Amino acid sequence: MTLSPSPSDLTGLRPFYVMEITARSKVLEAAGQSVMHMESGEPGAPPAPAVRAAVAASLDLPQHYTPSTGTIPLRQGLIGYYRDQHRVTVPMESLMVTMGSSAAFILAFLGAFKPGAKIAVTRPGYPAYLNTLDGIGFKAVEIPITAESGWRLTAEDVERAYSAEPFDGLLFASPANPTGAAVTGDTLRAIVEVCARLGVRFISDEIYHGLDYRAPSVSALEFTDRAIIINSFSKYYCMTGWRVGWMVLPEDVRTRIGMLQQNMFISAPTLSQTAALVALSERAYSEEQKAIYRQNRHTVADALAQFGLASANEGDGAFYAYVDFSRFTNDSLGFCIELLEQAGVAATPGIDFDRHNGNRFVRFSYAGTPATIAEAMNRLGDFLKRR
Ligand SMILES: Cc1ncc(COP(=O)(O)O)c(C=O)c1O
Repeated sequence: MTLSPSPSDLTGLRPFYVMEITARSKVLEAAGQSVMHMESGEPGAPPAPAVRAAVAASLDLPQHYTPSTGTIPLRQGLIGYYRDQHRVTVPMESLMVTMGSSAAFILAFLGAFKPGAKIAVTRPGYPAYLNTLDGIGFKAVEIPITAESGWRLTAEDVERAYSAEPFDGLLFASPANPTGAAVTGDTLRAIVEVCARLGVRFISDEIYHGLDYRAPSVSALEFTDRAIIINSFSKYYCMTGWRVGWMVLPEDVRTRIGMLQQNMFISAPTLSQTAALVALSERAYSEEQKAIYRQNRHTVADALAQFGLASANEGDGAFYAYVDFSRFTNDSLGFCIELLEQAGVAATPGIDFDRHNGNRFVRFSYAGTPATIAEAMNRLGDFLKRR
């Protein structure tokens, strides 16, 4: 038995192909070439000034472990967050502060499902879903979604996929990576309801909440207390490297997930929890960043339309454009390497998000500065003209 999948294997653990782009861009930059970065799914800005000040002020204090569920002030802050943003009361004992949403996925899978359970995810989708499931012995069922439906999952899609191959859980993000698609509150409610009817545990990845451009973000918590909610300070609060996120847990999984957290991670980083508490009340700063993404989103959509790539969805949220380049390539990694080497634009190949059709797609992250995004789009235009 071998542990490494062959290149033609459509299941199994895969590398992030974008690492190839990142590595090559470093070489080019070391040689003095300029690269416009649109490959990285993280805000360019640091956390809010008040967050950094609070961290600086606590540097001289001991940074002991915190309670494994997170500090009481941070969990109180999260209770306030749900009250203010979603008009929902969450009990303190339902909250678990984690090492980003990445750790929360592991806790959710191991804590709420039997070994080897099947969890459904969308295709395209965030690559770590498949890789984490595979890495810790669960099975993924992929639900294909299409550009024609705005990449938005529906309750009917869930039901159809379930009748073809039943699954135990559904892990779903809205807004989503790599498409930026977000479903309406009504659709989310319908998805929650269909999961309840099918006996499927719903896991709502709400990491891009706050970054909806069309309407306020809607949490699955507004419809159910049976779902596992996962969120993070990484994106809206510009804190990717701080590795801090949280879960809201239904009663039946709290004890088991609590024990897993104690043993696997002890607690989320103490300094990051200090930062996270302050970040929760610095939403004005996050809204300033969002205004920049919103401007970039138009720059990208206008440029893509000019290049005849109008099928590209402007995106409902997050900071991604997932673009069909089938007119130009059927090898998204090769295309991204050429785009980098010939035009100095770094982007992420679609195969990172979709092992079946991703070779036709490229993801651009527009979380950078307006100047970077505008220059990247100019370079992309010139590159496409030359092809
Ligand atoms: C949809 C989605 N979920 C989770 C994550 C992981 O985030 P964290 O930094 O909270 O671990 C990402 C990161 O890009 C993401 O796009």
